Amino acid sequence: MTMSVKETIEKRRSYRSLEPVEITLDLIMDLAEMAKITPSCGNKQPWRFVFVYDKQVLQQLFTVLSEGNKWVEKASMIMGVFSEPKNDCRIGERLYYLFDTGMATAFIMLRATELGLVAHPIAGFDESSAKEILGVPNAMRLITLVIVGRHTETVNPVLSDSMKLGEKQRPPRKAIEDFIYINKYKE
Ligand SMILES: Cc1cc2nc3c(=O)[nH]c(=O)nc-3n(C[C@H](O)[C@H](O)[C@H](O)COP(=O)(O)O)c2cc1C
Repeated sequence: MTMSVKETIEKRRSYRSLEPVEITLDLIMDLAEMAKITPSCGNKQPWRFVFVYDKQVLQQLFTVLSEGNKWVEKASMIMGVFSEPKNDCRIGERLYYLFDTGMATAFIMLRATELGLVAHPIAGFDESSAKEILGVPNAMRLITLVIVGRHTETVNPVLSDSMKLGEKQRPPRKAIEDFIYINKYKE
């Protein structure tokens, strides 16, 4: 069954109750194809990804997570997302490497969602330790780790109460009028 882009965006959730899912090189290549055709400033394609599904490397990454990210230990794959400013355009004060890498990451996350997977980005990890484990050069920014697994209805007991609630309903959002403006921005 194919899903529309709208349906895929609506289905995507940052679930934290995960069960194992088989990871194959075919899956990784399918996801990588989505990044390959993402737009970027001057077509510079600044994004870099390291896909980790080796159990030993996963175990190492589990040691560099923030306290609230114990749920990550159920991950079947972790995708490290990294880049550096010189990979992309700089137009005056505007640096595009984070924007373009974010777009490619979002496209990968949506494709993973369409394939029935959870792809949950996190910022809660120790960057320098994670870079060492992943072999990411020091000069680069390890922007996020995207946690991949299959969602299970059995709520992970390590979750805080608010995280448990988040499994059942999407966390509240700002009203649209708080972030869009028609014709001109108004404070
Ligand atoms: C850049 C970024 C960093 C995040 N870091 C964490 C994190 O460290 N731990 C975590 O459990 N969730 C993390 N999240 C997930 C957010 O909490 C989640 O996207 C938000 O609550 C909205 O929920 P939803 O994605 O299910 O709509 C992060 C999301 C983003 C985009």
